[in-house]
Amino acid sequence: MSMRLSTLAAVIAVSLAACGGQEPAAPAETAPAAAPEAAPAEQAPAAEAVDAAAAAPATGECSFALEGNDAMQFNTKDIVVPASCTEFTINLTHTGTMPVAAMGHNVVITTTADLSAVDKDGIAAGAANDYVKPGDERIIAHSKLIGGGESTSVTFDVSKISSGGPFTFFCSFPGHVGLMQGTISVQ
Ligand code: CO
Repeated sequence: MSMRLSTLAAVIAVSLAACGGQEPAAPAETAPAAAPEAAPAEQAPAAEAVDAAAAAPATGECSFALEGNDAMQFNTKDIVVPASCTEFTINLTHTGTMPVAAMGHNVVITTTADLSAVDKDGIAAGAANDYVKPGDERIIAHSKLIGGGESTSVTFDVSKISSGGPFTFFCSFPGHVGLMQGTISVQ
């Protein structure tokens, strides 16, 4: 049992480090309380765990590798943000070769309700603003606009999408929202 607790504590510590957690006291206080149910919790899917930090896989959970291509497509329609993450990063890569002016991609996050209006205003703001209306408070997070072969990233506080949804991520390049959008949720 003591070995199991040690392993659990180590996983918690790594998870907190990976997610930028700011609660150094958590491992010591969390492990004893979770001890009676430690074994089943380790087998359960992360989404089922009340003590999310204890069950979260150690690394790489607080980011997503989003890809956009020359066919105006993202590589997913659904991004799941683990509730154990304090911050979440979307790393966007344009896997195509077309220039930004012809096939630009970014990632913008809004409520699904605001999606159409934010997209319309972004297009009106033009290429000089990466098709994002400056100071738009409906936008929870957005990346810069990139062309083929380029990468960028955006990091945001998970608390911003933990309530008030549903939320959508999309590309605001003119004409892309129809194909390049999906849901983003905390689970
Ligand atoms: Co695009």
